[in-house]
Amino acid sequence: MPAPPGSTPPPAAVVALPGGRDYAVHFDPLAELARHLREAGLRGPRALVVTDETVGPLYLDAVRAALGGAGWDVEALAVPAGEASKSVGQWSGVLDWALRLGVDRQTPVLALGGGVVGDLAGFAAATLLRGLPLVHLPTTVIAQVDSAIGGKTGVNHATGKNLVGAFYQPRFVLADPATLQTLPDRELRSGLAEVVKHALIADAALVERLERDWDQLLDRDEAVLGRVVRDAAAVKVGVVAADEFETGDRALLNFGHTFGHAVEREAGYGALTHGEAVALGMRAAVHLSASLASGRVAGVLPAPFDRADALVARLAPPALDAAVSDDALTDAMQTDKKRTSRGLRFVVLDDVGRARLAEDVPADAIAAAWRYARGE
Ligand SMILES: NC(=O)c1ccc[n+]([C@@H]2O[C@H](COP(=O)([O-])OP(=O)(O)OC[C@H]3O[C@@H](n4cnc5c(N)ncnc54)[C@H](O)[C@@H]3O)[C@@H](O)[C@H]2O)c1
Ligand SMILES: [Zn+2]
Repeated sequence: MPAPPGSTPPPAAVVALPGGRDYAVHFDPLAELARHLREAGLRGPRALVVTDETVGPLYLDAVRAALGGAGWDVEALAVPAGEASKSVGQWSGVLDWALRLGVDRQTPVLALGGGVVGDLAGFAAATLLRGLPLVHLPTTVIAQVDSAIGGKTGVNHATGKNLVGAFYQPRFVLADPATLQTLPDRELRSGLAEVVKHALIADAALVERLERDWDQLLDRDEAVLGRVVRDAAAVKVGVVAADEFETGDRALLNFGHTFGHAVEREAGYGALTHGEAVALGMRAAVHLSASLASGRVAGVLPAPFDRADALVARLAPPALDAAVSDDALTDAMQTDKKRTSRGLRFVVLDDVGRARLAEDVPADAIAAAWRYARGE
């Protein structure tokens, strides 16, 4: 039966990759999961769901209901919620669980949750039997616009974040916009940091909508939040398709992250959310962009950096702990794995909606950026 006019869902964004590995990012209810599995050529009866102890009680029933009716046999594992679960120990635990259940090369692994579950389950899928089909069911803004798209999977190591992992693309992503309604406010705002990042580096029209619709976004107006999340995800889709293995422009997604990772590390993991650290990092990165464009910057930033700064300010970045020195932060940046042999690389804005990589950045410009991020 043809769909009534106006009711056809917009086509999913497609991550175009060589070797027949294209995959879709669907924004659809979880109830549609069985259809999407079938359309992606995935077959049962068994499916493994990895989730966390917060998301499981909220959405596992919906996944079971969607799959049970279609003849799938669902096995689920919930890890503790939070970054600490992105560990070698939890990864090994997922492997033990899956291998004990008995999996074959066709058994799909479904990652139901935020970026932590996506990175952990993704790495388990990449490594089990040299690769089981992976499906992301992202339930946070960060996961829907960023971590579920692009194939970076992995866990943390005592030496640093994300140091053990693999590029492993999912077979598809199914992001249910309704799941964002249960996110705690702090997590919603953290996710909006990545949305602001995507807008600032690549989508001036999205910047404009964020400026206009910010209050509705914070109120989780479904239409506004849904459209913003789709558009921010589209930025990631485009960047990944152009540069799967981060040899070029994919690095632009690290805007605010060279500073942000240092903040995260020095504040102590868990003290700030990733998004809060990135928001602070973007404040510094916008200042650095202005310095590189127009020399020394004191006081108010010149256009167009003032506009980028005002958008970042809406994220209400937390104050940087006064006990953490600028030197410690700069040292922490040196250990960030994104450094190159030529020195630290920073992503800077040329304009609102346009970014580039900067190398050989003068130390005084970095110091000035830290002072700005501190509100000095
Ligand atoms: N792979 C990538 O390309 C990539 C990109 C960006 C971030 N990341 C990683 O993602 C992680 C951060 O992701 P995150 O912010 O989603 O973290 P997260 O997975 O820890 O989720 C944040 C919190 O929200 C809870 N939660 C998730 N969905 C919920 C929902 N719908 N309702 C209520 N509570 C919910 C979780 O239980 C958790 O406590 C970091 O580890 C980061 O390194 C990876
Ligand atoms: Zn990030």
